[in-house]
Amino acid sequence: MIANPNIPEDVRAVASNGTQLRYKLMELTAQYPDAIALGRGDPDLATPAHIIAAANEAVRQQRSGLSPVAGLPELRQAVAAKLRRENGLSAEAENVIITTGGQEGLFLIMQTLLDPGDEVLVPDPRYTSYDEAIESAGGRMVLIPTDHDDAFNLRPEAVEAAITPRTKAVLIITPSNPTGGIVTEDRLRQIADIVIKYNLIVISDEIYEKFLYDSWRHFSIGSLPGMEERTITLNGFSKTYAMTGFRVGFVAAPVNFIQAMVKVKAATTGPAATISQWAGLAALTGPVEPLREFQRIYTERRQIMMDGLRTMHLDFSDPRGAFFLWTNSSSTGIHATELSYLLLKEGRVLIFPGTSFGENWGGYLRISILQSTDLLREALDRMQPIIARYRANH
Ligand SMILES: Cc1ncc(COP(=O)(O)O)c(C=O)c1O
Repeated sequence: MIANPNIPEDVRAVASNGTQLRYKLMELTAQYPDAIALGRGDPDLATPAHIIAAANEAVRQQRSGLSPVAGLPELRQAVAAKLRRENGLSAEAENVIITTGGQEGLFLIMQTLLDPGDEVLVPDPRYTSYDEAIESAGGRMVLIPTDHDDAFNLRPEAVEAAITPRTKAVLIITPSNPTGGIVTEDRLRQIADIVIKYNLIVISDEIYEKFLYDSWRHFSIGSLPGMEERTITLNGFSKTYAMTGFRVGFVAAPVNFIQAMVKVKAATTGPAATISQWAGLAALTGPVEPLREFQRIYTERRQIMMDGLRTMHLDFSDPRGAFFLWTNSSSTGIHATELSYLLLKEGRVLIFPGTSFGENWGGYLRISILQSTDLLREALDRMQPIIARYRANH
């Protein structure tokens, strides 16, 4: 695997597990007070004031008793209305479960959906929390390659080629963590045809749906004819409203699937935190200006990062959505896990190696834009000599 002695043993020990590698690197970063963390996936921006006010008000009024396991009826209704209005679904409150973040949602989906040996098709590179969710439900992950030349869009032919008699579901994350790519509407239409032909389920993770750039627009596969009854949509409040620490998300699916999920949820965490659910309701029903401002800020930061990477002659995939620049680091001649460690140790910049999103990605870095413009510029200044030195030696 990674032979280089520059990487300490504790990093090497977790290098083949994407999720553990990310946590290990974050732990190391905490040792350096001056580090700039471009690894994070949780927005650095302040939660909008009206959402904080709603949480405060819920506390003041002691609206803190347990909600039903599926979530507060008011919030389930507001989520269903949002899905009808913005995503073209026909969801009602009973099609919605409120979860403790999208993270719990994806775990509960797999626990509810999979029987031992069931296969889930997962585009690679990937958000590796899905690996653990699938495996802990006894399922098997089957990787679907995506590539740089195609801006990490998902190819319908690749999906169809991976189908076996054990295939249960196709996972689609658009926009994508880690690549910032999207699955375009034309491809989603073709994938929907395949999914219907083989009688499969789609898990559609749309948690970054509000962050698309240039002229790209989000499209929900569940809105296509014949798809809503076979689509499980995952979303949440963390990214859209900078509410990561509130831990509130949601899943929409056919009623019988939601009822089955509620049973699993009741047996694990019970309902999502009530105060967070009231805050989520304010997020969905409040003013849209704060979100517009977030979008403006991320667009500006993305431009700074793209310009900086071009100056360093680092190639990156077209960042059509989300918060990430999926950057090809192979011109440095060193493996991304090692490069990431050196950038942290020498440059005090945390950037996750591609290997934390799948073992095939030792030539990539995922750079997130979740810091102020000043810190992004500072991080670029720190990276530049390190990258230049390795490129020169290569
Ligand atoms: C693709 C994707 N899905 C789901 C999640 C879960 O987010 P949360 O639990 O904060 O809602 C994340 C978080 O990074 C993510 O990147």
